[in-house]
Amino acid sequence: MAATAALVARYRSVAAASAPILASATQVVAYAAYRMPATHAALVSVLGDLAAAGLSPRSVVDIGGGTGAAAWAAAECFDGLESIVVLDQVAEALRLGRVLVADVTDPVLAAARFEQAEIGSLPDRVGDLVTISYVLSELGAAQQRSLVAEAMRLGDCLVVVEPGTPDGYQRILAVRQQLLDAGWRLVGPCPHQADCPLKQGDWCHFATRLERSAEHRRIKGGELSYEDEKFSWVAATSPSSPALQARSARILRHPLKRKGMVEFQVCRPDGTAGREVVSRRAGSRYRAARDADWGDELP
Ligand SMILES: C[S@@+](CC[C@H](N)C(=O)[O-])C[C@H]1O[C@@H](n2cnc3c(N)ncnc32)[C@H](O)[C@@H]1O
Repeated sequence: MAATAALVARYRSVAAASAPILASATQVVAYAAYRMPATHAALVSVLGDLAAAGLSPRSVVDIGGGTGAAAWAAAECFDGLESIVVLDQVAEALRLGRVLVADVTDPVLAAARFEQAEIGSLPDRVGDLVTISYVLSELGAAQQRSLVAEAMRLGDCLVVVEPGTPDGYQRILAVRQQLLDAGWRLVGPCPHQADCPLKQGDWCHFATRLERSAEHRRIKGGELSYEDEKFSWVAATSPSSPALQARSARILRHPLKRKGMVEFQVCRPDGTAGREVVSRRAGSRYRAARDADWGDELP
């Protein structure tokens, strides 16, 4: 429980970590039990969204992959996947990651390679898709920039996921700008290539609900049978990559369902953000709008 409490305190802090957060075997097990289900759920949401837009990588390189949350999510989301490499500095995390995939029936996940590597001197593990999830907060600003530059050299599509907090969003905004400055094309969640239109004080983030097992509830000291993981993300493809499907407006909040209408806050393909209302008169679009949720594209 002490290792879990230390992890909780760490994830509530906004400062860059001065030492590896996952160092001992106990901390790694606490991470896998306490955080990995939620980071995995966020990644399923993000990679599932990209798969629906036509992304179909054959190889994935996950930097700072820890116990392998992104490896599991990629195996679930991408049918044509052939190889997964997880890179991390912490041998214990990689060891547990290997144990977790050892008995799975998915041959690609079971064959995932977990390799020890330090950000700043990563091996040349080239992948169609490079993922960096919940890592940037452990790095200083200059290290974050050079990691993103390194990731752009390793793959043709880069996905970065951070906690859905104002400071997580600020890190995502910096990555977003770096990608645009390098001529990369944003493929999610933004439906445009312009500056983020959200007003100061607001932050772009999404949420995914995950079931908590009895064990998970005990570890977290919570009563609820579920938890909502909030996350911010950005994905982009290199200038030489084939285009994915064009994006429609992205729903930024829980929709408000009223009698005969649904009201949304959205980010639009023209680079603006604001309110959209779909009324019953829209027929099938209204029926689709009733089912649409925060994070989806506007029907
Ligand atoms: C919060 S964990 C996230 C793990 C995983 N990506 C996930 O989403 O569950 C951050 C990971 O980044 C790794 N990391 C941090 N700094 C690193 C560095 N300089 N080199 C390699 N890995 C690093 C840590 O070891 C840790 O496994």
